[in-house]
Amino acid sequence: MSDVYSITPIILAAGEGKRMYSKVPKVLHKVCGIPMVEHVINCAREISGEEPVVVIGHGAEQVRKEVTGVKFVMQERQLGTGHAVMQAENYINDGDILILYGDTPLLQPETLSEMHEMHRAEGCSATILTSDIDDPTGYGRVIRIGEKLIEAIVEDKDADSSTKLIKEINSGIYFFDGKELREALRHLKNDNTQGEYYLTDVIGIMREKGLKIGAFKIKNAEDIMGVNNRYQLSEANKIMQRRIVKKLMLGGVTIIDPDSTYIDASVTIEKDVTIYPGCILEGNTVIQEDSVIGPYSRIKDAKIDRGVKVQNSVVLESSVGEGTTIGPFAYLRPGNKIGKHAKVGDFVEMKNSTFGDNSKASHLTYVGDGDVGSNVNLGCGVVFVNYDGKKKYRTYVGDNSFVGCNVNLIAPVRVNENTYVAAGTTVTKDVPQDSLAIGRARQENKEGWVTERKNK
Ligand code: UD1
Ligand code: CA
Repeated sequence: MSDVYSITPIILAAGEGKRMYSKVPKVLHKVCGIPMVEHVINCAREISGEEPVVVIGHGAEQVRKEVTGVKFVMQERQLGTGHAVMQAENYINDGDILILYGDTPLLQPETLSEMHEMHRAEGCSATILTSDIDDPTGYGRVIRIGEKLIEAIVEDKDADSSTKLIKEINSGIYFFDGKELREALRHLKNDNTQGEYYLTDVIGIMREKGLKIGAFKIKNAEDIMGVNNRYQLSEANKIMQRRIVKKLMLGGVTIIDPDSTYIDASVTIEKDVTIYPGCILEGNTVIQEDSVIGPYSRIKDAKIDRGVKVQNSVVLESSVGEGTTIGPFAYLRPGNKIGKHAKVGDFVEMKNSTFGDNSKASHLTYVGDGDVGSNVNLGCGVVFVNYDGKKKYRTYVGDNSFVGCNVNLIAPVRVNENTYVAAGTTVTKDVPQDSLAIGRARQENKEGWVTERKNK
């Protein structure tokens, strides 16, 4: 149906979100790594195919900076949900208008498309998404006139005691006939307890005109759960997290303990990947087939190729080639490109470096601003000395080179192909190809020294 009738989504996101006690506008608080409003925008896009309109006010500049691919409308003062929709008047065409809130991140497109089908099938001028909830305090109550149709919505603050007993609440999500919505908005007044322009009053206005208003009631109120404080934010996180891991598991990913695993909505994981407990996978991370992650690893904005093993490690903004092992206890800071079948072992830190195929840094090594070729072995305790206190410099280690234990490479410096750097050397000048570099004080043995000392 949605391809016959255009749907224009309008997302209300101008409110302050006082109960978050935050410098950050409420709708920018994240659920599973993505701002709440972005979840709503994605959902809106999926069902309409059009750029959603987002009404902003509080923290407008911050929202503008973080959110793209939408049309913004400014609501300078927050005079109510009806007033918010009025600001978007220029976008209210004769098609169907979908009203959403920016703080309901759990809404799913399937719910909206079923609702739209009903809206169309019943020929309603408006359809409201509703649900029964145990404690309806604070919500607008739905006054019904039958199984599918409703008479009005009464706001909690304006409700009498018998209306307050009604458990069916207005989610604040609606489909409207655009023409009728435009017309009704012109008659909206603010003569209520809160002195606001209620969008809900549009329903009464439409009813007076004899128009049909539908109610699409959902059983599981999860979809319409609004986030008003940080406790609810964590609840929303939990619910979405469960959805994410379930989808991944049904797609062939083994997640040993879903309750202790945190995966952002933006992460891609291929089949036959195993995730051990305690992992946090964030941002635009991609993990390819047959990789094993964890336990207790944090991976953010990284590309992990096939068959990689990561254990108890942190990997940030880096790529890791096929069959490579990382950790335990490795720290890959941003900007690394690690080749295939390589090894980055325990207590190895790397940043802004390339590390070639089959190369190894098995233990206790710092590789900073390095360009390391393939088949290189970095012994235990190698340090890339990349910082002179003012500037950073790069270090080059060519293919097939062997850098012994406890070597300092003072950048900028080049250790060329096929070389050998003896253990304990401090490399301050370039090492030519096929040679040995050795730079350390010669050892002297003083025989009998201990005995002599004792006798003194
Ligand atoms: C609204 C509904 C109520 C419903 C409830 C569901 C009205 C009058 N009432 O009440 O029936 O049960 O939502 O959560 O619509 N906003 C703006 N500009 C404004 C005011 C609000 O953009 O001037 C945005 C807010 O940022 C928020 C949404 O609209 O995302 C809802 O506003 P809120 O004040 O929370 O509405 P409620 O009083 O909770
Ligand atoms: Ca609210």
